[in-house]
Amino acid sequence: MAGAPTPYTPRQISEQILAVRGAIEGERKQVSVLFCDIVASSALAGELGPEEFHLVIDRFFRDALTEVHRYEGTINQFLGDGFMALFGAPMAHEDHARRAVLAALGIAARAEVKVRIGINSGLVVVGAIGDDLRVDYTAFGDTTVLAARLQAAAAPGAVLVSRQTAGLVSGYFQVEEVAPVKVKERTVYPLRVMGLGTRTARIASGDEMSPFTGRDHELAELQRALEVTADGEGQVIGVAGDPGLGKSRLALEFCRLAEPDVAVLEGRCLSYGASIAYLPLFELVRNACGITADDSPELAARKIELKIKALELDVSLAHYLRHAFGLPAGDPALAALDPRIIRARTFGALSRLLVAQAGHRPMVMLVEDLHWIDQTSEEFLAGFVNELPSVPVMLLATYRSGYSPPWIGKSYTSQLALRPLSPAASEKIVASLLAGGDRAGASAIAERGEGNPFFLEELARANRDQTTDAAGVTVPQTVQQVLAARIDRLPADQKAAIQLAAVLGREFSLGLAEEVWDGDVPLEALLQELKGLEFLRERHGLAERTFMFSHVLTREVAYDGMLEARRRELHGQAGACVEHSQASQRFEHCELLAYHYSRSADPARAVPYLAAAADRAKDRYANEEAIRLHKEALSIVQSQAAGRDRDSQELAILEAVAAPLNARYGYASPELQQTLERWIALAESLGRNDSMAAGLVALWASRFVQGRSADGYQTASRVLALVGPGSELAGHAHFAIGGSAVTLGRLVEGRRHLELAADLAGGAVWLSTGVRADVHSTAWAAHAHWLLGRDTEALSACHKAINLARSIDDPFCLAVALAYGCITHHLRHDMSALGTNVGELRELCSSYGFAYYREWGLILDGWSHQDESGIGLAQQAISNLKVGGSFARMPYWLSLLADLLARNDRRDAARATLDDALIAARDRDDLWWLPEVMRMRAAYDEEQAAISRLRSAAQTASAQGSVALLRRCEHDLAGRGFASQPPVIP
Ligand SMILES: Nc1ncnc2c1ncn2[C@@H]1O[C@H](COP(=O)(O)OP(=O)(O)OP(=O)(O)O)[C@@H](O)[C@H]1O
Ligand SMILES: [Mg+2]
Repeated sequence: MAGAPTPYTPRQISEQILAVRGAIEGERKQVSVLFCDIVASSALAGELGPEEFHLVIDRFFRDALTEVHRYEGTINQFLGDGFMALFGAPMAHEDHARRAVLAALGIAARAEVKVRIGINSGLVVVGAIGDDLRVDYTAFGDTTVLAARLQAAAAPGAVLVSRQTAGLVSGYFQVEEVAPVKVKERTVYPLRVMGLGTRTARIASGDEMSPFTGRDHELAELQRALEVTADGEGQVIGVAGDPGLGKSRLALEFCRLAEPDVAVLEGRCLSYGASIAYLPLFELVRNACGITADDSPELAARKIELKIKALELDVSLAHYLRHAFGLPAGDPALAALDPRIIRARTFGALSRLLVAQAGHRPMVMLVEDLHWIDQTSEEFLAGFVNELPSVPVMLLATYRSGYSPPWIGKSYTSQLALRPLSPAASEKIVASLLAGGDRAGASAIAERGEGNPFFLEELARANRDQTTDAAGVTVPQTVQQVLAARIDRLPADQKAAIQLAAVLGREFSLGLAEEVWDGDVPLEALLQELKGLEFLRERHGLAERTFMFSHVLTREVAYDGMLEARRRELHGQAGACVEHSQASQRFEHCELLAYHYSRSADPARAVPYLAAAADRAKDRYANEEAIRLHKEALSIVQSQAAGRDRDSQELAILEAVAAPLNARYGYASPELQQTLERWIALAESLGRNDSMAAGLVALWASRFVQGRSADGYQTASRVLALVGPGSELAGHAHFAIGGSAVTLGRLVEGRRHLELAADLAGGAVWLSTGVRADVHSTAWAAHAHWLLGRDTEALSACHKAINLARSIDDPFCLAVALAYGCITHHLRHDMSALGTNVGELRELCSSYGFAYYREWGLILDGWSHQDESGIGLAQQAISNLKVGGSFARMPYWLSLLADLLARNDRRDAARATLDDALIAARDRDDLWWLPEVMRMRAAYDEEQAAISRLRSAAQTASAQGSVALLRRCEHDLAGRGFASQPPVIP
């Protein structure tokens, strides 16, 4: 390699990096990697001779490094006749990709030799940072390999970027497709950068944007200032707010409304422009003079002069401007002047040009992104605003929270601090990006975006395109970069504090944070500083002093940026602090302890707290949350060493999770069945008969609902044998036997077991399916009573079950009692009671997310409508049941649908549905309702066939002792002229 220079990074950058070095090492960063190499350097060396070659290479490196440093990249490695540079590490930059491409174009334009450049963007873990700023890093996936490969594949003089990089800079550069490139078995499709694109900022007029919403008040405020300006009294308005809150968009919409009556002149500061004097002012002047990006420096200089003349100003002003902007043909005599004099005159020239440009017409001077402004421009603006009260110029500046402009406090200046958008406005933005009106999805995203329109848009896009990062990061990269760059700009102490905060959660108490904190600076001071920078907010009105992240995504990005080992360590410390300081009431804090310990290096410590937290969730009827917590505990326990201890821990979790699983997913769900099978196997191997019996009853319920009536009866009998009669658990067994017997049409036996179950179980015994045994048994017994012709008992059992359920205040129990109650009312044809109960049932199921009984509610509600709309409901629910594998009572449900169809003149469909019901009854031994299905089906038979079907129905009913259904058959037979036979009751 010919004379690679020592990597040199400008002092101000290197100091900044070294000051926070400790805080950056070991972090995960999104970066752009640039590889650059000279084409055919050995041929060139031969051609030029060693000395000349040496000089050329020296110049190449000097120029290339200047370009890299201009965009705050760091040279990481010299390789042969080239180098590798990183943008976005060690310090994160929100626009690392754009900076890398700008540097690449700069390098290619300045080099006297031909170079090839390749760029890719992705995730790296920053390792040690040397004193020379060399960064050790570990790349995720092929972040660097691909960049190197693109460099090798580039044509001489070309800059190739990966799709990943291109996506991040879309619009900012012109790109062209080139031939695909192979990288380790994979084909990638790079793009060649041809030059600058038309885009210079995130949004620009002419872009397709989400509908502007929720900023009426701010627009009105700006309009009012414009009116004052138009009267000749200039105004200054700063629009302040966090990244992405919509400062630029507000300015854009305002200018759109103001034009064409008002002239708009625009200039912007750049993220890498803080050291470029006059940068935003040059843009203002260029726009005023009509200078375009393609104009040569000479033409630009000429245009400034023409403008000065056109405005009838002193031509000498042009010299100062050209000098300030580094354009040719400035007055050579200027070089001899004192720089302070030059500056004062340049300020004067700028001021006069801008005021003259406005003339008598009001003008809006928009300066964007003031937080990146160079010092000279800032000083100019500070003086310029003093001119405004007497000229029709409105200075509109945007800047991020944390920056304070130099003019605060004057009467004609004000600041609009943007607030997050309202939930309604947020949903509007999200909905405009999500096709197909996914309302639930839209409101979930709107909630996560917390009123920041940029986050909202990016979250919605990521959701629409289903993109998750290779590293599993769920915050969209675009958002990630902006936030990571902000966090990286913090001094080391503040950054350590924000990382600790991120580990503690969205919201955390100062007390806990202080206990875990091991830094030298008092934590509270740092948190106050972070509050001042609007990273955090303080929550008032709580017993403990509490801080929270202003935006949830900031927390996520701070958290994602940390190495896992460090997070685990802090979580462990936080858990230990809570456990220690709250020793007497540890379980009060079970959620917090579960959260920290499960993420620590010793997650087993989380298990008891997860269980307690899950119980609390269940007590709040938050079944989904309870299931999640139990599953978390389960995965921790399952990863422990095998043995009895582990098995009993696992069994305890399975016993606890069955009820919420049932409520949430239903008896027939695979989730519940797998849990029960494992429960029973574990209980058996641990010799725990009681647990096994409880598990078997739940398994019985699950099999029963699947329509396996006959083997359900077997399982139930096995339970009774296992626990022996008379025990509390025998109540469970009687419940199962009773339910099976009723279904099989053995009504007297069924009723007896159900009554025994209610008695034996006493008041407080819960079935493993999450229903109290007396409620479920009594509710079911009502059906047996009615079938046996005991209408009064049926009604009173129905009421008793519902009242019991109400008295214990458990929504799932109540849902069960109401669901059975609805059937009882249907049997009794009590339309009004049915209507009331079914309404309550449906509401309960929907507000608590109960599965299974929800479908009962739909069918019975559908039936009670008696019209076409009811058919749809019933059909939908029946199909849901079938899809979920729940076939119990299918003949009954189908008969309700058939009845609805018949009432709505759809006789063929009704007959076919009854045929299905007959098959369902016989195939699955679901026999209690069979006589009624047969009776209904007879209505579609020829006379003789009808009579024989009715007789057979009557026989079945009487064999079951089903007085109620037998009466209906006899009534129909009598209608056809046949005398009734005496009922046969077993
Ligand atoms: N009120 C709004 N209604 C709809 N969309 C909006 C609104 N405000 C902003 N947006 C959209 O949100 C995105 C971010 O807005 P904008 O670029 O104006 O943010 P910013 O505050 O200027 O951020 P930065 O500090 O990064 O410059 C843009 O795509 C913009 O179109
Ligand atoms: Mg902006």
